[in-house]
Amino acid sequence: MDHWTEWLELFLRWVHIVTGAAWIGTSFYFNWLNNHVRPPEEPTPGVGGDLWSVHGGHFYRVMKFTVAPEKLPKVLHWFKWEAYFTWISGFCLLFVAYYFEAKTMVVDNNVRVLEAWQAIAIGLGTLAGGWTFYHFLCKSPLGKKTPVLSTIVALFLVGVAFGMTQLFGSRAAYIHVGALIGTIMAANVFFVIIPNQRVMVDAMTKGEDPDPALGLEGAQRSLHNNYLTLPVLFIMVSNHYPVTYGHEYNWAILAGLMTVGALTRHWFNLRGQGHKNAYILPIAALGMVGLAFVTKPKSYEDHRPVQFAEVRQIIETHCVQCHSSSPTFPGMSEPPLGVAFDNAAAIQRHAQRINTQAVVSRVMPLGNTTGITDEERDILGAWFYQGANAE
Ligand code: HEC
Repeated sequence: MDHWTEWLELFLRWVHIVTGAAWIGTSFYFNWLNNHVRPPEEPTPGVGGDLWSVHGGHFYRVMKFTVAPEKLPKVLHWFKWEAYFTWISGFCLLFVAYYFEAKTMVVDNNVRVLEAWQAIAIGLGTLAGGWTFYHFLCKSPLGKKTPVLSTIVALFLVGVAFGMTQLFGSRAAYIHVGALIGTIMAANVFFVIIPNQRVMVDAMTKGEDPDPALGLEGAQRSLHNNYLTLPVLFIMVSNHYPVTYGHEYNWAILAGLMTVGALTRHWFNLRGQGHKNAYILPIAALGMVGLAFVTKPKSYEDHRPVQFAEVRQIIETHCVQCHSSSPTFPGMSEPPLGVAFDNAAAIQRHAQRINTQAVVSRVMPLGNTTGITDEERDILGAWFYQGANAE
């Protein structure tokens, strides 16, 4: 990645995090509000619940109308730009961080050999196709049966996770599942929640009664977004956790983590509605512990002693094209992230990271462009296990 692209990526990521925080913040706040409004002490016509709060030295009073107020106020705030900008910045980021260098960042030759354009087409097709499938599923008669619908949507997402890991490198596969979920969430706001609200508001302005079906449809999509928040947040930081995406069954690990996220959200929802479901949170926590066990790295206890010369040979064959102070890999002018394996001391100094990247998560060599074998990975792993000496 060249200097200017890196700054562009920095900018986009920053915007993405800020707008994402604003979106999730309002979403959490309104959920919380919905769960905490109580019938007002002095009954007010049309008002189903109200709530007092104090924040930053000021007192606030919010009223929730059962359907709609008699008369609309002059200024009515809508919440949509947070969602739109989160999606737009995320979509640009997908290009800058992944598609600009699709050959190394998306494709993994060990998973499937693809041209850059094929990988990009599959990625974009997954976002568009995934949304279309989801949208028409919700619109179909099945959309009226909440448990059936939720089960199909959950299985569909697991299916996408499986499919992506069969086509892309593991990090790109995870990020595409996250991008699809983010696309579904933002499109729910853009194509359903906001337009329905607009029709309802227009009806009210004309003095007509708004169609309750529109509100119900928006509420359904809102509920889906609610359950998808925690899973999508994990996926967005998953790049920092090679133990997850690096696993042989990485799609199942992802399914497990998404379930943990959705269960946690479920617990908060139920709690907010006054139900005590003490067992859900411990189950989610146990799920997390279970996943930690399942992803336990391979043991090298019984491996034969490894000589440093073998390690050096592997690094020189498979890594220094990129990781040297003067890389020979086309288009690379500096060692990536400053990691260079120029001499024995440097290799030893990076032993831990070599183990994480090339053995545990298997993301290095990037896209396996240099064709490292499983035996060679095992030698690196055993070397690290045996103390990573450099003699
Ligand atoms: C085709 C070029 C290429 C090859 C070959 C390659 N790498 Fe990398 N490596 C990269 C790039 C690009 C990054 C930065 C990735 C990123 O930004 O996430 C990187 C990052 C790393 C990092 C730092 C990751 C971190 O976040 O701490 C380590 C360690 C690493 N590679 C080890 C290796 C090892 C070991 C090999 C050989 C088995 C190898 N790489 C082969 C391109 C390569």
